[in-house]
Amino acid sequence: MKTLSIVLLLSAAIGNFPIGSASAAGNPCAAGKPEIDAKTITRPQGYKPMAGDAKLGEKLWHDTKLSTNGLSCNSCHQDHGAFQSSFAKPYPHQVAMARDKAGMKRVHLDEMIQACMVMPMAAKPLPWDSRELAALKAYTLGVQKTFKPGAKAPANPCSAKPANPCAAKPANPCAKK
Ligand code: HEC
Repeated sequence: MKTLSIVLLLSAAIGNFPIGSASAAGNPCAAGKPEIDAKTITRPQGYKPMAGDAKLGEKLWHDTKLSTNGLSCNSCHQDHGAFQSSFAKPYPHQVAMARDKAGMKRVHLDEMIQACMVMPMAAKPLPWDSRELAALKAYTLGVQKTFKPGAKAPANPCSAKPANPCAAKPANPCAKK
C-alpha cells in the first residue's frame, strides 16, 4: 500500500511538474496564444464557395448530430443568441472568438461556421466542398438578415445585468440611524 502511494505521488509529481513550470514560467505570450490552428478553419487555397440549400441548412442548424456534445447551432444561436454586433456586418469581418481562439483577424462566413463546428460543437470541420457547409451558410445568411445588433445583446454586456442586487433590497432600516 505504502509503496503504491509513493509511486502514485511520484508519478503525479513527475507528470505535473514540467507542465506547471512551463505555464507558470514559460512564454509570456502564452496567455494570448491561439487555442486552435487557424488552418483547420481557413478556406483552402482556390476555394470557390458553392450555392447552398437554405432548407437543408435549417435542418442542419437544429441537428445535434453535427456536434459531439449534444449541441446544435440552434442551442446557442436561437433568437440570435450568442451573436455579437459583428454579425450584422457583411463578411469577411472580425469575430472576437475567431480572433481570440484562432488568431484570425477576419473570417468569411463559412470559416466562422467551421470555427463553431470545431470549437463550441467539438466536432471536425465540415468538408469544404460539402452540401452541408453550403447549406448552413445559406441558412445563416438568412438568419443574419433579421439580426439587429443590440436587440438581444446590448453593446455593453454589463448594462444588461440588473443593477447591484443589494440596491434593489428595501433599504436597511438600521442604515438610517
Ligand atoms: C456553444 C454555443 C455555440 C454553438 C453550439 C454554436 N455557436 Fe456559433 N457562435 C458562438 C459564439 C460564442 C460565437 C462568437 C461570438 C463572437 O465572438 O462575436 C459564435 C459565432 C458564430 C458566428 C459568427 C457571428 C459573427 O459575428 O459574424 C456564426 C456565423 C456562427 N456562430 C454560426 C454557428 C453555426 C452555423 C453553428 C452550428 C454549426 C454554431 N454557430 C454553433 C456559440 C456557438
